[in-house]
Amino acid sequence: MRGTTYDLRIGNEPTRDVIIESALDKPDGREPVLHSGARAASGQTLKRCTRRLFRLCSRLDLGRGHKPRAQSLMNIISRLKRIVPAPFRPPLRRCLHSIWPRSRYAHRVQQELETYNAIENVHDLPAIAHYWSEKYVAPLFRPFGFANSIEFFRSYVARMCGERPAETVAILSVGAGNCASEINIAEWLREIGIENYRFECVDINPALLKRGASLAEAKGLARYFTFSSFDLNAWRPSGQYHLILAIQSLHHFVDLEILFEKIHELLHPDGYFLADDMIGRNGHQRWPEALKLVNELWGELPDTYKFNHLLKRHEKEYENWDCSKEGFEGIRAQDILPLLVERFNFELFIAFSNVIDIFVDRCFGPNFDPSKEWDRAFIDLVQALDAAQIESGALKPTHMLAAMTKSSVERTKMYKHLSPEFCIRRPDPHVRLRDVTIGSCERPGGYCSSSSRYCFSIGELRSRSSFPSCGSGSL
Ligand SMILES: C[S@@+](CC[C@H](N)C(=O)[O-])C[C@H]1O[C@@H](n2cnc3c(N)ncnc32)[C@H](O)[C@@H]1O
Repeated sequence: MRGTTYDLRIGNEPTRDVIIESALDKPDGREPVLHSGARAASGQTLKRCTRRLFRLCSRLDLGRGHKPRAQSLMNIISRLKRIVPAPFRPPLRRCLHSIWPRSRYAHRVQQELETYNAIENVHDLPAIAHYWSEKYVAPLFRPFGFANSIEFFRSYVARMCGERPAETVAILSVGAGNCASEINIAEWLREIGIENYRFECVDINPALLKRGASLAEAKGLARYFTFSSFDLNAWRPSGQYHLILAIQSLHHFVDLEILFEKIHELLHPDGYFLADDMIGRNGHQRWPEALKLVNELWGELPDTYKFNHLLKRHEKEYENWDCSKEGFEGIRAQDILPLLVERFNFELFIAFSNVIDIFVDRCFGPNFDPSKEWDRAFIDLVQALDAAQIESGALKPTHMLAAMTKSSVERTKMYKHLSPEFCIRRPDPHVRLRDVTIGSCERPGGYCSSSSRYCFSIGELRSRSSFPSCGSGSL
């Protein structure tokens, strides 16, 4: 049997063992092909499985309970996985989900755990992402006193500790994963001599928290940390926190309304809810207006740049992939900003990027090499188009850094006119890309990179000498 045993606590229920199998499903969601030999052999097994399934189901309480019961559902699903042959799992799962809707949630939780257990470093990004963020994102942040997300969090923690020298600043991190960022912050605090704080790191994945606990121990920082593993969708919190951190985790939560209410309740009157998160369309898909621009750019991209490294496939046509089909990736990303605006006041809000995500993220980013001039120029062009469309309001940003409070705020610090309200995508069937002219380019529908080195219409990309042919030489 493939599988790993985890010590998992869900929704404050007592800890139990859960068996989680890995890599059971095809990444593209297709059903596996069943060969005829396997069919015959599996017939007997299916009968056995069905009998066991009915026995198991008859012992279940299908009518009552809520998400804390995900623990027992996961136990049952795990057992089923062990006895049901792989080819029968997808149809059986669909059947189970329709007669027993709560099993869908438990299945997603399992996928979520499997995804992150397989990743050593969640923040491992392609080299081109670093080229892009250093050239465009860091300059956006610098006027606010930091150059990246971790410095943003550090600055608020240091400020809170500095303002309360006689107190212990309570910091809660929701969806902390392996706590690498929190430990990084703690190391930095040690360097500058700050000790009056405690981190409480919460995550549904005990294996990740265990990695965090080992790292904190190894760095001599264990006394500043506590780790709790439970499902934040079924959270019964208590206490009060000066700072609540959500580092790339809000886009994994289903019950955002409840989560935000609880955070509001737990936040000290002078405290901050700090978030670095994805706020684009659910499942990190593009909205139609952004997809239009992606498709235009895709048409100009040589085939060698169209390999999807995560899904391990070539995409001649760009596929607007819904990452939330499995696990919780981007499950309600588009609701995050509107819900936050309803509940919190923003002391700081910086939002950025949309179409550029596609070309620098883990799927297609590895196809670009920042040491190649053409690759850099293409990314520069996409960034320029993206930024212009976002500033015009035609596209809405997919990333945000936000510092929020319960108390009123005199003035929100933000980038240009990109306020939280401005960055909400309102459902509007008439959203259109604007004709933008970037740099000194005066041709209608033409574009220049922000450095004004490239000036062309998208259709002209092929003939530009500034974009030397690469790969197949088809450019
Ligand atoms: C993208 S990772 C971010 C982890 C970490 N904050 C970081 O920046 O490396 C999202 C995290 O949310 C956690 N998560 C997802 N759903 C959760 C839930 N319902 N309750 C608690 N944690 C959850 C996942 O286990 C994962 O560690």
